[in-house]
Amino acid sequence: MPVSPPQVGHRQIGTSGIHVSPVAFGSWPIAGMTSLGVNDADSLATIKAAVESGINFIDTAHCYGAHGESEKLIGRAIAEDREQLVIASKGGIHWDQNVVRHYDGRPETLIAQCEQSLDRMKLDTIDLYYLHAPDPNVSVSDSATAFNTLIESGKIRTAGVSNLSLTEIKAFNAVCPISAIQPPFNMLQQEICSEIIPWCLANKVSVINYWPLMKGLLAGKIRRGHPFAAEDKRLTYSIFQGQAFESAQQLLDGLDEIAEKTGHSVAQIVVNWTINQPGITSSLCGGKRPWQIKETAGAMDWQLGSDCLTTITKLIKSLKRN
Ligand SMILES: NC(=O)c1ccc[n+]([C@@H]2O[C@H](COP(=O)([O-])OP(=O)(O)OC[C@H]3O[C@@H](n4cnc5c(N)ncnc54)[C@H](OP(=O)(O)O)[C@@H]3O)[C@@H](O)[C@H]2O)c1
Repeated sequence: MPVSPPQVGHRQIGTSGIHVSPVAFGSWPIAGMTSLGVNDADSLATIKAAVESGINFIDTAHCYGAHGESEKLIGRAIAEDREQLVIASKGGIHWDQNVVRHYDGRPETLIAQCEQSLDRMKLDTIDLYYLHAPDPNVSVSDSATAFNTLIESGKIRTAGVSNLSLTEIKAFNAVCPISAIQPPFNMLQQEICSEIIPWCLANKVSVINYWPLMKGLLAGKIRRGHPFAAEDKRLTYSIFQGQAFESAQQLLDGLDEIAEKTGHSVAQIVVNWTINQPGITSSLCGGKRPWQIKETAGAMDWQLGSDCLTTITKLIKSLKRN
C-alpha cells in the first residue's frame, strides 16, 4: 500500500489521503478491444512511459479485455513501482464467451471480480475501486454494500462510482461514502457541469474524468478527411460523424492557433484545460504507444494564460450555438 508523502502538484482523491497526478493513465486502449494495432511490447512500454513521465495514477477495470488483458499487463509492468503508484479498477461489467457485455452489480459478483482483479495485477489491495456502471436489475444501494465489505477486508482502500446519475450517486454514497466519481467530460461533453460537479465540490468528492481527448479526436491529429481504417470503431460514435465532427474541427482550428502561440501541442492544451476545470482531480488519458502518454503527461506542471483560457471559452460557447 503506497504510504509515500504527496508529491508537489499531486491532488487528493476526495478526503481519502490518497494523492494522484492530475494526468492519469487510462488502460482501455491496451485492452485491445477497440484500439487497432495493440501489442504486449508496446503496451508494457506505454505503462512504463507513463510512470517515467510523472504519472502515478493508473486506471483499469475488470472488463478491460475479454480476459482481463489490461489488468494482466498492469500486473506485469508495475511490480517494481507499486509503492509509488495509485491503482484504480472497476467492477460490475463482464463479457460472456461471445464477447457480449453484461452488467452485474450483485454484491457477490463485485467481490469476486475485485478478488480476480487483485490476482491479475498481483496486488494485495486496490487503492480506488469503482462500481463501473449501474446494473438495471440491482439497486446501487445493494451494490454499495459490497464496497463496505471490500473496505473492511482491506481489499480496497476507497470507493468510487462511474456512469451513475446524481440520484444514483447519492443513493450509493448514503450506504458507502465515495471518494470519487468517473464520468465522461471534455471540451465537447460537459453534461456533468450543471448538477454533478457542484454536488461533488460540496461533498468533497473527486471527479476523475474519462475521454479528455474524446478517444483521440481532441488530440488534434484526426482532422477533416482523416483516413479512418474500416475497422476503426470510433466511426460509430456520433461525435465522429457529420456536424458534430465538423464542430470539433472548428474547435481544433482555434486550438491550433493557441498551440502555435504557446509552443504546446493541441493534446497538451486540451488536457491542461481539462485538469484545471473546477472539481476535476485527475483526467484519464488513454494511449497504446509510449509517445502518446509522454505527450499528454506533458500537460502537467504549467497553466494556460488567461488570454488562452478566454479564447477557449469563446470557442466552446460558439460550438454550443452550432
Ligand atoms: N468508466 C468508464 O465507463 C470509462 C469509459 C471510457 C474510458 N474510461 C477510462 O478513461 C480512459 C480514457 O478513455 P479512452 O482511452 O477511451 O480515450 P481518450 O483518453 O479520450 O483517448 C485515447 C486515444 O487517443 C489517442 N491518443 C492518445 N494520446 C494521443 C496523442 N498524444 N496524440 C494522438 N492521439 C492520442 C489514442 O488513439 P489511437 O492511438 O487509437 O489513435 C488513444 O487510444 C480509458 O483508457 C479508461 O481508463 C472509462
